Amino acid sequence: MSAAYFTCNDRYVIGLNYLTNFMDNNRASTATTQLKLTDIAEEVAKLMRANSRQYGKNLYTMPSPETYPYQWLWDSCFHAIIYSHFDPNRGKEEILSLLSKQFHNGMLPHLIYWRRGPVIDIDWGQGRRTSNITQPPMIAYAVWRLFQKDQDVEFLKSIYPNLFHYYKYLLNERDPHQRNLLGIINPDESGEDNSPRFDTLLGLPPIHQFEENLRKRADLVQENIKCKFDAPFCMKNFFWVKDVPFNAIMVENLQCLSYIAQKIDREYDAAYFDRSREEIVKAMRELMCEDGLFWSTHGGNYQRIKVKTWAIFAPLFARILEKAEAEKLVNKHLLNEKEFWDAYPLSTVSKDEASFSPAEMWRGPAWISVNWLVYKGLVNYGFNDAAEKIKQSSLALIKKSGFREYYNPKTGEGLGANHFTWGGLVLDMD
Ligand code: GLC
Repeated sequence: MSAAYFTCNDRYVIGLNYLTNFMDNNRASTATTQLKLTDIAEEVAKLMRANSRQYGKNLYTMPSPETYPYQWLWDSCFHAIIYSHFDPNRGKEEILSLLSKQFHNGMLPHLIYWRRGPVIDIDWGQGRRTSNITQPPMIAYAVWRLFQKDQDVEFLKSIYPNLFHYYKYLLNERDPHQRNLLGIINPDESGEDNSPRFDTLLGLPPIHQFEENLRKRADLVQENIKCKFDAPFCMKNFFWVKDVPFNAIMVENLQCLSYIAQKIDREYDAAYFDRSREEIVKAMRELMCEDGLFWSTHGGNYQRIKVKTWAIFAPLFARILEKAEAEKLVNKHLLNEKEFWDAYPLSTVSKDEASFSPAEMWRGPAWISVNWLVYKGLVNYGFNDAAEKIKQSSLALIKKSGFREYYNPKTGEGLGANHFTWGGLVLDMD
């Protein structure tokens, strides 16, 4: 494997230099105004400001004021990446508020209830201010993006101990038997709550009601509570998944963490993170890969969960594939209209899966976060045409339907939460 595949993308210049029409913040418009990058950037900045809140000295951004009025872990990492394009200092605040709720064991909770509201009123079993589970570890990547903008070494120094403890927690507690893959104990830890990757483990058929899925996940939270959220010794009996995107995101983030460590003269730590990254890559290839496709696994015997979702493209983000493997993956699956390609790519579930449902949250709709992850992966391998198509699709979705949580990949219809922040990631498709 070429060492070149292990460098964090450090290009920064905003490159959205085309013109397009734009629909203002979820309001239909027939006017064909030409959109410049500055127009999009302004719309994004306006949305981020509107969703920004303060609690004491903590600043955070709600993904959607009506539907998601709290602070989420990977959302705030996306927010920091978005802020890096127009207000890096605000991005740093987003990171600091996340870190302020770090657990003693190093874990970062996936949800912080700064102000309790009427939605998602779940008792996670340990106080009422945060959840007890985590989310994909995107924080080192977000911090590195901020650093690329302003070279603020003092900020890196000030938060490095927190980052160190979080990634050390993941490497130790989520891989108790040292097989070099990290486990998640709840579908929500993947960030893709009702993805069909988790159906069988939840005892659900490919087609079922959203409420049924929610109930199963709520039951799992009860098991989490009974197990005191002890992943290796207890939760392994209920839900212990080595998820492809979670591990791929870890790989790319360990690269960023190593860069951060080097910047502040922690060479020993950097070498440790590099080694850990290589070990995870090796384990992913050994335990997840079959005929060029990476599958999430469950249980102690690493049984592969062969449900074809966008997760098969996550290794591109982490530069885990050889160029020839990546090329085959993109041509055979990504650009395939029978699988993931559609009028408004990318479907998050392959259309030939029984569970594919174009309007149901993580069961088929296009998400801008996934488009961003895949865009970055395509750029890593120099597949610039395909990357450009994903960028154009993301813009077309926002133009047609505004800043929505997810979109029907066949029609472009906006679905789920309104005023949803993740559309801002188009700014980072540079
Ligand atoms: C949904 C998404 C999750 C996200 C949260 C807040 O639960 O599935 O990934 O973090 O909303 O936006």
